[in-house]
Amino acid sequence: MNDREPIGVIGAGWVGLVTAACFSELGHDVYVRDILQEKIDSLSRGEVPIYEPGLSEMLGRNSERLHYTLEMADLLPNAELLFCCVDTPPSYSGDADLSRVNRVVEEVGGSTDHALVMKSTVPVGTGRSIRRTANGAIGYVSNPEFLKEGSAVNDFMNPDRVVVGFEDSDDGFGERVAALYEPLDAPIVHTDVASAEMIKLASNAFLATKISFINEIANVSEELGANVDEVARGMGLDARIGPQFLRAGLGYGGSCFPKDVSALKQLAGNTGYHFQLLTSVIEVNELQKRRAIGKLQKHLGSLVGKEIALLGVAFKPNTDDIREATSLVLAGRLQSEGAHVRVYDPIASGRAGSLLGGARVAESALDAIDGADAVVLVTEWPEFRELDWEGDVKQKLRSPLVVDGRNFLDRELLTRAGYTYEGVGR
Ligand code: UGA
Repeated sequence: MNDREPIGVIGAGWVGLVTAACFSELGHDVYVRDILQEKIDSLSRGEVPIYEPGLSEMLGRNSERLHYTLEMADLLPNAELLFCCVDTPPSYSGDADLSRVNRVVEEVGGSTDHALVMKSTVPVGTGRSIRRTANGAIGYVSNPEFLKEGSAVNDFMNPDRVVVGFEDSDDGFGERVAALYEPLDAPIVHTDVASAEMIKLASNAFLATKISFINEIANVSEELGANVDEVARGMGLDARIGPQFLRAGLGYGGSCFPKDVSALKQLAGNTGYHFQLLTSVIEVNELQKRRAIGKLQKHLGSLVGKEIALLGVAFKPNTDDIREATSLVLAGRLQSEGAHVRVYDPIASGRAGSLLGGARVAESALDAIDGADAVVLVTEWPEFRELDWEGDVKQKLRSPLVVDGRNFLDRELLTRAGYTYEGVGR
């Protein structure tokens, strides 16, 4: 063990493993606990069960400081700061399902030597209720994560800010958590627990709002002859607006935005407050996912019997995550319109399985395109831009129709090559 504070990580999912890897990189001994035997076995063998750029290398080079276990009893004697990184999936009501968090609280039990450091995204008020249940017998710190899939390791090591929420009565645990992040040289927001919880949900909800906003600007721009890329560039240079999250497309997906926006709306609803804005953000996003269908119909008429190639299954590039992915909604909708769907993704198609209905999972992008009446670009994987659009692709398509759902392809090149090109708000 080195002189840096050892830490515990509970839950070896995406957040837990990135947290463990990065703290080990910063020189800490990290004790990682998960309840799945196969996960612990594969991590102990040096195999990383998820795809995240840089993660497996980082875990590998720090393997001496990383200790994997199935037992909470192995964590407690070794680490006092216990990072809770278990899932909080949405429940049917739209509220976050806290059963896994609650199990962790029970298992950790009462110990004034330990603090639970909450990384999992939880409803505002969770910390207060856990503290009340534990009756002061365990420390509690809220330390939400702001990692993006596909760049999580880099986001952890170079954060815009670190948020640490704690109460004055917390025996210095909050300060100890803040100290862990000092080497990262980022602003640290010291605040109370409820505000820290709200910062997380409000940040995701605000980013989702930005996306739904630019998507509506795109939809109106299509009718009025403006180009949303130009509009976003011009808006983004205003420092008060900023250039990020102004990419129009087929809506946001993934395991965070849809869940967190619904959770915040639901939390507000539970207090009797109707969060009008978030209701619209969600509705706009749902409609946006389906807009490619109308564009196909505009050119192909009825979609019955038409062959449609979807490029991209993952909810965004550089991940194999298909949760709340637009591809799934589009594949289902196209098939209910009578179309035959083929899909290709560099890494995620295998994961989709039955979620794609009867869609054929193609071996390559060209295989998906072969004999298709139209191509819909759903996920902006760089390799899709590199396809030979003027040669191979054009020859294989039955008709040269491209719906570019992410404004990602070279519109001029495609138009010059004789394609009918439909972007989003272009
Ligand atoms: C998001 C947040 O960006 C992270 O800060 C947060 O920590 C994370 O959720 C979480 O709560 O765990 P993530 O879901 O990995 O991260 O993905 P993003 O890169 O934010 O993209 C979300 C969705 O928005 C994707 O479907 C993406 O295609 C879409 N998007 C993003 C747009 O349509 N337009 C944009 O301009 C940006």
